[in-house]
Amino acid sequence: MSQDDIKNDIMNRLRTDYMARSLYYYDKTDSTNLRIRQLAEEGAPEGTLAVADMQTAGKGRRGRGWISPSGMNIYMSLLLKPAIPASDASMITLIAAMAVAGAVRDFPEASTGGMADTSTGVSGTPADIKIKWPNDIVVGGRKVCGILTEMDLDGEAIRDVIVGIGINVNQDSREEFPEEIRETASSLRIELGTGEIDRGALIARIMDLFEKEYDEFIKCGDLSFMKERYDDMLAGLGGQVRVLDPKGEYTGMSRGMDERGRLLVETDDKTVRPVYAGEVSVRGLYGYV
Ligand code: BTN
Repeated sequence: MSQDDIKNDIMNRLRTDYMARSLYYYDKTDSTNLRIRQLAEEGAPEGTLAVADMQTAGKGRRGRGWISPSGMNIYMSLLLKPAIPASDASMITLIAAMAVAGAVRDFPEASTGGMADTSTGVSGTPADIKIKWPNDIVVGGRKVCGILTEMDLDGEAIRDVIVGIGINVNQDSREEFPEEIRETASSLRIELGTGEIDRGALIARIMDLFEKEYDEFIKCGDLSFMKERYDDMLAGLGGQVRVLDPKGEYTGMSRGMDERGRLLVETDDKTVRPVYAGEVSVRGLYGYV
Protein backbone atom coordinates (compact mmCIF):
# COMPACT_ATOMS: atom_id res chain seq x y z
CA MET A 1 0.00 0.00 0.00
CA SER A 2 1.21 3.52 -0.73
CA GLN A 3 1.50 6.16 2.00
CA ASP A 4 -1.76 7.71 0.81
CA ASP A 5 -3.57 4.36 0.85
CA ILE A 6 -2.48 3.73 4.44
CA LYS A 7 -3.55 7.22 5.52
CA ASN A 8 -6.91 6.86 3.77
CA ASP A 9 -7.44 3.45 5.30
CA ILE A 10 -6.98 4.87 8.82
CA MET A 11 -9.09 7.96 8.00
CA ASN A 12 -11.97 5.90 6.59
CA ARG A 13 -12.20 3.89 9.77
CA LEU A 14 -12.04 6.80 12.22
CA ARG A 15 -15.17 7.74 14.15
CA THR A 16 -13.54 10.65 15.99
CA ASP A 17 -14.33 14.36 15.94
CA TYR A 18 -10.73 15.56 16.07
CA MET A 19 -8.28 12.82 17.11
CA ALA A 20 -6.11 11.79 14.13
CA ARG A 21 -8.14 13.98 11.74
CA SER A 22 -4.81 15.66 11.04
CA LEU A 23 -2.69 12.63 10.16
CA TYR A 24 0.92 12.23 9.04
CA TYR A 25 2.29 8.90 7.85
CA TYR A 26 6.01 8.11 7.45
CA ASP A 27 7.50 4.97 5.90
CA LYS A 28 10.58 5.66 8.00
CA THR A 29 11.41 8.34 10.53
CA ASP A 30 13.65 8.85 13.55
CA SER A 31 10.92 8.96 16.21
CA THR A 32 7.25 9.88 15.88
CA ASN A 33 7.54 11.81 19.17
CA LEU A 34 10.17 14.03 17.50
CA ARG A 35 7.98 14.44 14.40
CA ILE A 36 5.04 15.56 16.54
CA ARG A 37 7.20 18.01 18.46
CA GLN A 38 8.24 19.58 15.16
CA LEU A 39 4.65 19.63 13.88
CA ALA A 40 3.59 21.29 17.14
CA GLU A 41 6.20 24.00 16.61
CA GLU A 42 4.74 24.55 13.14
CA GLY A 43 1.27 25.07 14.65
CA ALA A 44 -0.36 21.64 14.20
CA PRO A 45 -3.76 21.34 15.91
CA GLU A 46 -4.69 19.23 18.90
CA GLY A 47 -5.30 15.61 17.91
CA THR A 48 -2.60 15.56 15.20
CA LEU A 49 -1.28 12.01 14.86
CA ALA A 50 2.05 10.90 13.41
CA VAL A 51 2.32 7.24 12.42
CA ALA A 52 5.45 5.48 11.16
CA ASP A 53 6.08 2.05 9.71
CA MET A 54 9.62 2.13 11.08
CA GLN A 55 11.67 4.28 13.47
CA THR A 56 15.43 4.65 13.42
CA ALA A 57 15.65 6.31 16.86
CA GLY A 58 12.57 5.04 18.71
CA LYS A 59 12.58 6.32 22.29
CA GLY A 60 11.50 4.33 25.33
CA ARG A 61 11.07 5.46 28.90
CA ARG A 62 14.00 6.16 31.23
CA GLY A 63 16.33 6.99 28.36
CA ARG A 64 16.00 3.56 26.80
CA GLY A 65 15.39 2.90 23.09
CA TRP A 66 12.33 1.31 21.51
CA ILE A 67 13.08 -1.36 18.94
CA SER A 68 11.13 -0.35 15.83
CA PRO A 69 11.46 -2.72 12.85
CA SER A 70 9.44 -2.09 9.67
CA GLY A 71 6.37 -3.86 8.31
CA MET A 72 4.85 -5.22 11.48
CA ASN A 73 4.21 -2.82 14.34
CA ILE A 74 2.53 0.41 15.34
CA TYR A 75 4.60 3.47 16.23
CA MET A 76 2.48 6.57 16.66
CA SER A 77 2.42 9.85 18.55
CA LEU A 78 -0.47 12.13 19.35
CA LEU A 79 -0.41 15.89 19.94
CA LEU A 80 -2.56 17.22 22.82
CA LYS A 81 -2.99 20.72 24.17
CA PRO A 82 -4.91 20.24 27.40
CA ALA A 83 -5.77 23.31 29.49
CA ILE A 84 -4.85 21.59 32.76
CA PRO A 85 -2.12 22.11 35.35
CA ALA A 86 1.20 20.50 34.39
CA SER A 87 0.99 18.33 37.50
CA ASP A 88 -2.12 16.61 36.05
CA ALA A 89 -0.55 15.62 32.73
CA SER A 90 0.70 12.22 33.91
CA MET A 91 -2.94 11.08 34.07
CA ILE A 92 -3.12 11.24 30.27
CA THR A 93 -0.76 8.30 30.07
CA LEU A 94 -3.24 6.09 31.95
CA ILE A 95 -5.98 7.17 29.57
CA ALA A 96 -3.83 6.09 26.62
CA ALA A 97 -3.27 2.72 28.31
CA MET A 98 -7.04 2.27 28.75
CA ALA A 99 -7.65 3.08 25.09
CA VAL A 100 -5.04 0.58 23.87
CA ALA A 101 -6.19 -2.15 26.26
CA GLY A 102 -9.82 -1.54 25.28
CA ALA A 103 -9.05 -1.71 21.56
CA VAL A 104 -7.14 -4.97 22.01
CA ARG A 105 -9.96 -6.42 24.09
CA ASP A 106 -12.38 -5.62 21.26
CA PHE A 107 -10.68 -8.15 18.97
CA PRO A 108 -13.00 -11.14 18.53
CA GLU A 109 -9.96 -13.38 19.12
CA ALA A 110 -9.38 -11.79 22.53
CA SER A 111 -12.63 -13.17 23.90
CA THR A 112 -12.57 -16.53 22.15
CA GLY A 113 -8.92 -17.35 22.85
CA GLY A 114 -7.33 -17.25 19.43
CA MET A 115 -8.64 -18.66 16.19
CA ALA A 116 -11.32 -21.20 16.90
CA ASP A 117 -10.49 -24.77 15.84
CA THR A 118 -12.76 -25.04 12.81
CA SER A 119 -12.91 -28.83 12.95
CA THR A 120 -14.26 -28.91 16.48
CA GLY A 121 -15.58 -25.36 16.86
CA VAL A 122 -13.66 -25.24 20.12
CA SER A 123 -11.70 -22.14 21.01
CA GLY A 124 -9.17 -21.46 23.74
CA THR A 125 -9.42 -19.42 26.91
CA PRO A 126 -10.02 -15.67 26.59
CA ALA A 127 -6.84 -13.65 26.35
CA ASP A 128 -5.47 -12.21 29.55
CA ILE A 129 -5.19 -8.49 28.69
CA LYS A 130 -3.90 -6.32 31.51
CA ILE A 131 -2.40 -2.94 32.24
CA LYS A 132 0.78 -2.97 34.28
CA TRP A 133 0.54 0.29 36.19
CA PRO A 134 0.82 2.93 35.00
CA ASN A 135 0.79 2.19 31.30
CA ASP A 136 2.37 -0.98 29.91
CA ILE A 137 -0.09 -3.27 28.16
CA VAL A 138 0.58 -6.88 29.02
CA VAL A 139 -1.03 -9.82 27.25
CA GLY A 140 -0.44 -13.36 28.50
CA GLY A 141 2.02 -11.93 31.04
CA ARG A 142 4.23 -10.26 28.40
CA LYS A 143 4.60 -6.62 27.41
CA VAL A 144 3.10 -5.80 24.01
CA CYS A 145 2.81 -2.02 24.29
CA GLY A 146 4.73 0.84 25.87
CA ILE A 147 3.74 4.49 26.15
CA LEU A 148 6.06 7.47 26.40
CA THR A 149 4.41 10.75 27.32
CA GLU A 150 6.42 13.95 27.00
CA MET A 151 5.38 17.47 27.91
CA ASP A 152 6.50 20.91 26.71
CA LEU A 153 5.94 23.86 29.02
CA ASP A 154 5.56 27.60 28.51
CA GLY A 155 6.67 28.81 31.90
CA GLU A 156 4.40 26.83 34.22
CA ALA A 157 1.67 26.20 31.65
CA ILE A 158 1.42 23.22 29.33
CA ARG A 159 2.22 24.08 25.73
CA ASP A 160 1.66 20.53 24.55
CA VAL A 161 1.65 16.91 25.61
CA ILE A 162 2.97 14.25 23.25
CA VAL A 163 1.69 10.72 23.78
CA GLY A 164 3.90 8.16 22.00
CA ILE A 165 2.52 4.65 21.69
CA GLY A 166 4.53 1.63 20.51
CA ILE A 167 2.71 -1.67 19.98
CA ASN A 168 4.24 -4.99 19.00
CA VAL A 169 1.58 -6.23 16.61
CA ASN A 170 2.57 -8.82 14.04
CA GLN A 171 5.77 -10.61 15.08
CA ASP A 172 4.79 -14.25 14.74
CA SER A 173 7.46 -15.79 16.91
CA ARG A 174 9.26 -14.67 20.06
CA GLU A 175 12.56 -15.49 18.32
CA GLU A 176 12.04 -12.24 16.42
CA PHE A 177 12.67 -10.24 19.61
CA PRO A 178 16.22 -9.39 20.67
CA GLU A 179 17.48 -11.73 23.36
CA GLU A 180 17.49 -9.15 26.15
CA ILE A 181 13.70 -8.67 25.96
CA ARG A 182 12.65 -12.12 24.70
CA GLU A 183 11.43 -13.26 28.11
CA THR A 184 9.29 -10.23 28.86
CA ALA A 185 8.11 -8.96 25.42
CA SER A 186 5.67 -10.38 22.94
CA SER A 187 3.26 -9.33 20.18
CA LEU A 188 -0.51 -9.22 19.90
CA ARG A 189 -0.46 -11.77 17.12
CA ILE A 190 1.47 -14.27 19.24
CA GLU A 191 -0.50 -13.75 22.43
CA LEU A 192 -3.95 -13.62 20.84
CA GLY A 193 -3.18 -16.47 18.45
CA THR A 194 -4.43 -14.57 15.42
CA GLY A 195 -3.31 -14.26 11.82
CA GLU A 196 -1.93 -10.93 10.62
CA ILE A 197 -3.60 -8.04 12.43
CA ASP A 198 -4.76 -5.00 10.45
CA ARG A 199 -2.74 -2.13 11.92
CA GLY A 200 -4.91 0.60 10.40
CA ALA A 201 -8.04 -0.80 12.02
CA LEU A 202 -6.32 -1.02 15.39
CA ILE A 203 -4.98 2.55 15.18
CA ALA A 204 -8.45 3.89 14.33
CA ARG A 205 -10.08 1.97 17.19
CA ILE A 206 -7.49 3.27 19.68
CA MET A 207 -8.13 6.85 18.52
CA ASP A 208 -11.93 6.41 18.91
CA LEU A 209 -11.56 5.12 22.45
CA PHE A 210 -8.88 7.63 23.38
CA GLU A 211 -10.99 10.60 22.29
CA LYS A 212 -13.93 9.48 24.45
CA GLU A 213 -11.79 8.97 27.55
CA TYR A 214 -9.76 12.15 27.02
CA ASP A 215 -12.85 14.36 26.57
CA GLU A 216 -14.31 12.90 29.76
CA PHE A 217 -11.04 13.55 31.61
CA ILE A 218 -10.95 17.18 30.48
CA LYS A 219 -14.55 17.62 31.73
CA CYS A 220 -13.94 15.81 35.01
CA GLY A 221 -10.41 16.98 35.85
CA ASP A 222 -9.39 13.58 37.19
CA LEU A 223 -9.70 9.85 36.49
CA SER A 224 -12.60 9.05 38.82
CA PHE A 225 -14.81 8.37 35.76
CA MET A 226 -12.70 5.39 34.73
CA LYS A 227 -11.27 4.14 38.03
CA GLU A 228 -13.41 1.02 38.14
CA ARG A 229 -12.68 0.06 34.54
CA TYR A 230 -8.96 0.71 35.00
CA ASP A 231 -8.79 -1.44 38.13
CA ASP A 232 -10.59 -4.17 36.25
CA MET A 233 -7.68 -4.31 33.82
CA LEU A 234 -4.93 -3.74 36.38
CA ALA A 235 -2.33 -6.53 36.58
CA GLY A 236 -1.72 -7.80 40.09
CA LEU A 237 -4.67 -6.06 41.77
CA GLY A 238 -4.95 -7.37 45.33
CA GLY A 239 -1.55 -9.07 45.06
CA GLN A 240 1.86 -8.29 46.53
CA VAL A 241 3.96 -5.68 44.74
CA ARG A 242 7.42 -4.29 45.28
CA VAL A 243 7.78 -0.53 44.87
CA LEU A 244 11.22 0.40 43.57
CA ASP A 245 11.37 3.89 45.03
CA PRO A 246 14.82 5.53 44.79
CA LYS A 247 14.23 6.73 48.39
CA GLY A 248 13.80 3.15 49.55
CA GLU A 249 12.12 -0.01 48.29
CA TYR A 250 9.08 -1.44 50.01
CA THR A 251 6.46 -4.11 49.45
CA GLY A 252 2.72 -4.13 49.98
CA MET A 253 -0.64 -5.09 48.51
CA SER A 254 -1.84 -3.38 45.32
CA ARG A 255 -5.18 -1.73 46.06
CA GLY A 256 -5.79 -0.18 42.64
CA MET A 257 -5.42 3.36 41.39
CA ASP A 258 -6.88 6.48 42.96
CA GLU A 259 -8.72 9.24 41.10
CA ARG A 260 -5.40 10.92 40.21
CA GLY A 261 -3.87 7.79 38.71
CA ARG A 262 -1.62 6.97 41.67
CA LEU A 263 -1.24 3.32 42.63
CA LEU A 264 -2.42 2.67 46.17
CA VAL A 265 -0.15 0.26 48.02
CA GLU A 266 -1.11 -1.03 51.45
CA THR A 267 1.94 -1.83 53.53
CA ASP A 268 2.13 -4.39 56.37
CA ASP A 269 1.22 -1.80 59.01
CA LYS A 270 -2.02 -1.12 57.04
CA THR A 271 -0.89 2.31 55.86
CA VAL A 272 -1.98 3.05 52.30
CA ARG A 273 0.76 4.81 50.34
CA PRO A 274 -0.05 6.52 47.00
CA VAL A 275 2.68 5.80 44.46
CA TYR A 276 3.32 8.46 41.82
CA ALA A 277 4.23 7.42 38.28
CA GLY A 278 7.59 8.76 37.21
CA GLU A 279 10.86 7.45 38.46
CA VAL A 280 9.26 4.82 40.64
CA SER A 281 8.53 1.40 39.14
CA VAL A 282 6.40 -1.34 40.57
CA ARG A 283 6.94 -5.06 40.14
CA GLY A 284 5.00 -8.10 41.15
CA LEU A 285 7.03 -10.16 43.60
CA TYR A 286 7.45 -12.89 40.99
CA GLY A 287 8.63 -11.77 37.55
CA TYR A 288 7.94 -8.81 35.30
CA VAL A 289 4.21 -8.34 35.94
C1 BTN B 1 8.36 2.32 26.96
O1 BTN B 1 9.57 2.38 27.18
O2 BTN B 1 7.64 1.44 27.47
C2 BTN B 1 7.71 3.37 26.08
C3 BTN B 1 7.94 3.09 24.62
C4 BTN B 1 7.26 4.09 23.70
C5 BTN B 1 7.58 3.82 22.25
C6 BTN B 1 6.80 4.69 21.31
S1 BTN B 1 6.91 4.16 19.64
C7 BTN B 1 6.12 5.61 19.10
C8 BTN B 1 6.70 6.75 19.93
N1 BTN B 1 7.92 7.24 19.34
C9 BTN B 1 8.98 7.00 20.10
O3 BTN B 1 10.14 7.30 19.81
N2 BTN B 1 8.62 6.38 21.23
C10 BTN B 1 7.17 6.17 21.28
